[in-house]
Amino acid sequence: MKTEILSARADLPEMKYRSAIAEAVDTLKKNLPAALPSETVYGLAANALHPQAVAKIFEAKERPLSDPLIVHVADFVTMKRLVSEQLPEELSNLIQRLATAFWPGPLTFILPRSGEVPDLVTAGQDTVAIRCPAHPVFQDVLKTCGFPLAAPSANRFGRISPTSAAAVYVELQGRIPLVLDGGDCERGVESTIIFPRRIAANAPEISLQILRHGPITAEALSAFAPIFTSSKKGDLPTAPGSLASHYAPRTPFHLLGKSPIPAHWQNCGLLAWDKKFLSLRNFVAVEYLSPGLDLCEAAVNLYRAMRLLDDLHLDGICAEPLPEIGIGCAIMDRLRRASHV
Ligand code: TXA
Ligand code: MG
Repeated sequence: MKTEILSARADLPEMKYRSAIAEAVDTLKKNLPAALPSETVYGLAANALHPQAVAKIFEAKERPLSDPLIVHVADFVTMKRLVSEQLPEELSNLIQRLATAFWPGPLTFILPRSGEVPDLVTAGQDTVAIRCPAHPVFQDVLKTCGFPLAAPSANRFGRISPTSAAAVYVELQGRIPLVLDGGDCERGVESTIIFPRRIAANAPEISLQILRHGPITAEALSAFAPIFTSSKKGDLPTAPGSLASHYAPRTPFHLLGKSPIPAHWQNCGLLAWDKKFLSLRNFVAVEYLSPGLDLCEAAVNLYRAMRLLDDLHLDGICAEPLPEIGIGCAIMDRLRRASHV
């Protein structure tokens, strides 16, 4: 299959932009997948209500069918048909307040699902993941096609998420018909995923369990409800996206700080933050996540820098740890998963 990259950048003449959106919508209406830019990472989208369309996502990514997908909606109202009609009032009020604060944006809710969502999307679970993306291209496609879009990150399973159209092309070339190029992603890491639930049957209120750290930080969410983070097996829903080894380059990866660099690594690259480890070795390639030590900028650069170092065929890539505050939690989570063997 030939993969077309079509520009849908903001600086295009209106006619050209509209025709790019129309081509993506046309592709999606034919139940084929199309890669779309979002503010977090590029997504591989297909009609969430059509099992055959959704199946093509799994096929292109080589993703196991046991790993459920996030459904993207144009607005809060569209979300309603995807979630159970019997949400307790406390839960629906909390979701409403969070959506008002953070949607459109990089926050995904795990909620009891309605019968409209195909089993393939949720991997047969009784919950569905939903988010309303902020990127204007994703929004325009959603509004024009009129159905919700299931969209995981547009990479092959287990690999680094793409933050540019070129990176999508490298990942999925020949497997999908279309990539819309909306420029580089503004946030650089995947959405924050929260599971609002009572952490014990007799708990006085609903907590927000953070299943994946992302751009909407625990600090920001804590203004709405108590935060619960736990990676203990029994505390997690059975969604395998929380697999330890994920977001991984092909090159062996080592998070600096706790243990020494493996002795047999001769040619090492460094993903640098504050240069504390720079003199440890003669690193053959160094990528700086943010020279001015800005965590948001580090998030934007993270996957691009990981891909760059991964392409150099080094013996290993080392990464300096970042402070676990704000979006630093999301970055450290991805570095830990990349270094998990
Ligand atoms: O920013 C993002 O969230 C991007 C853009 C494209 O929206 N999407 C994304 O999708 O990162 P994906 O499939 O790469 O990651 C979604 C994660 C997976 O780890 C999956 O297991 C988890 O969400 N997930 C999906 N449905 C779930 C559910 N019902 N319960 C728990 N986890 C779920
Ligand atoms: Mg992914």
